[in-house]
Amino acid sequence: MKVIVADDYQEMSKIASEIITEEIIKKPNIVLGLATGTSPIGLYDNLIENYNNEIVDFSSVSTFNLDEYLGLNPENENSYSYFMWDKLFSHINVKKENVHLLKGDASDIQKEMNDYVKAIKECHGIDVQVLGIGSNGHIGFNEPGTDFEKLIDLVDLKESTINDNSRLFDNIEDVPKKAVSLGIKSIMNAKKIILLASGEKKQDAIYKTIHSEVTNEVPSTILNLHHDVTIIVDKKAAGKIKC
Ligand code: F6R
Repeated sequence: MKVIVADDYQEMSKIASEIITEEIIKKPNIVLGLATGTSPIGLYDNLIENYNNEIVDFSSVSTFNLDEYLGLNPENENSYSYFMWDKLFSHINVKKENVHLLKGDASDIQKEMNDYVKAIKECHGIDVQVLGIGSNGHIGFNEPGTDFEKLIDLVDLKESTINDNSRLFDNIEDVPKKAVSLGIKSIMNAKKIILLASGEKKQDAIYKTIHSEVTNEVPSTILNLHHDVTIIVDKKAAGKIKC
């Protein structure tokens, strides 16, 4: 596992965007696995800037997002579909048909999950997976206690996750209690993984990710078993790690 400690969020985002830009240039029809949340917003801003400066072209890129709240339709401003179009897809030349987002309001959620896994397979898997991390060590919405063997899962969100994410909702009661998430197995199947974390609130999760033994009580520890993981953290999130 490679760990890069950046000065701050801006530098973390810049480093991540340089790695991903380079990967897209190397493989224009790359399959990206993408995350939502605060952690990758700066990365997406930098990718948009690179696109505007004609450094990178998304016309052959495919994307698969990690997760979606159960019950939210894509037009809902709190949905992860809305987030992705707002923060990235609307600003670059990715083709709509190459963007894959889970439909949280699908009438048959099991079929939705099966189709999603099938679509990833048809694209020959995810080349680069971008991850954030929850303060409890979740990756995607794979919460503590998760089954490492799942390709995709319908999950009950932990109270800590609901609390963490309530900042983006008007009321904590509005935060969905369930979500659909690519499972740990799908994340581990990605050829390359980049995990981003910033801020003091992530210190413990980052410490455990790097220094604890692999346990499903801290889902991110599984990343120690992947051959190509780069963790990019700012100084605050790196506060507890040993050199
Ligand atoms: C989001 C996701 C989550 C977040 C994590 C950190 O698609 O999969 O695992 O990455 O909850 O969220 P932020 O970045 O908002 O701190």
